[in-house]
Amino acid sequence: MIKRRINLENELAEAWMNHYFCSMAKTIAIANQKGGVGKTTTTINLGGCLGVLEYKTLIIDADPQANSTSGLGFDPKNVNNIYDCLVNGVSTASLILETNTPNLYLLPSHIDLVGAELEMINLEDREFLLKKALEEVSDQYDVILIDCSPSLGLITVNSLVAADAVLIPVQCEYFALEGLSKLINTIKIVQGRLNPTLEIEGMLLTMYDTRLRLANQVVDEVKTHFQRLVFDTIIHRNTTLSESSSHGIPVIMHDAASKGAINYLNLAREILQKNNLTKMGNSDKHIDFELENDFE
Ligand SMILES: Nc1ncnc2c1ncn2[C@@H]1O[C@H](COP(=O)(O)OP(=O)(O)O)[C@@H](O)[C@H]1O
Ligand SMILES: [Mg+2]
Repeated sequence: MIKRRINLENELAEAWMNHYFCSMAKTIAIANQKGGVGKTTTTINLGGCLGVLEYKTLIIDADPQANSTSGLGFDPKNVNNIYDCLVNGVSTASLILETNTPNLYLLPSHIDLVGAELEMINLEDREFLLKKALEEVSDQYDVILIDCSPSLGLITVNSLVAADAVLIPVQCEYFALEGLSKLINTIKIVQGRLNPTLEIEGMLLTMYDTRLRLANQVVDEVKTHFQRLVFDTIIHRNTTLSESSSHGIPVIMHDAASKGAINYLNLAREILQKNNLTKMGNSDKHIDFELENDFE
């Protein structure tokens, strides 16, 4: 009896150790083949909020335009980048940079990634290169966010294969739904052939402008189409977001009281709750913060 109990305690301790020390990061690809919909802004600012909330977060810049890299204050020309771990077999950990935001790390990109895509086509397991590169470091982070390029090419397929879930930013603009069926089709193909456990984390409405009637129509249309897949949090248009990127820091580090910071904090909390990752009490779960002007 005592022996059984010791075994049980050992098993529980092992499960606990596995959970706290060996569990893999929740990996979310932020994807939409349309450019300018808020993928990079969401990656940097969701990552910044998660970091400030003490979730160790790694941003993977998987876009040759390297906007996440420059938006976090690094010059893509001067840093080693993701190309080396995808194509040259360099260790992923050796390429990761610490940012100025607490608990936020970056695997940078470079324009050379365009060339990497061509080289990857000839490699064995070409769709699994990013997944393999991340396996080496995944247990060291709580969350990994992948900023995808505006294409459905091989690097984006690699991102969807490496991810547990995909977050789709949808701009509150004309033709918001345009191209989404193609993206969802790609996600289905990846689910069917390469990553059966890939889920849709949610559709995120971005750049919402309360002054435009069109914005409300887009919200209604997207909610009608995608229903529970749409996040409750909506990201408003807020110039502080572009301002903070130009300073190379997430908005939460630049102006924590801005609408942009509050919107992305709420998104972080929504995602943490949905994934049962939250370390917070119920009272902390949502910030109801009213600014004098809804739109800045
Ligand atoms: N909520 C927002 N409010 C104001 N400007 C935004 C917002 N989201 C994104 N932007 C701006 O819109 C442009 C495109 O956003 P970005 O995140 O780079 O899109 P993507 O990565 O999908 O191409 C950038 O200049 C960015 O600063
Ligand atoms: Mg981008």
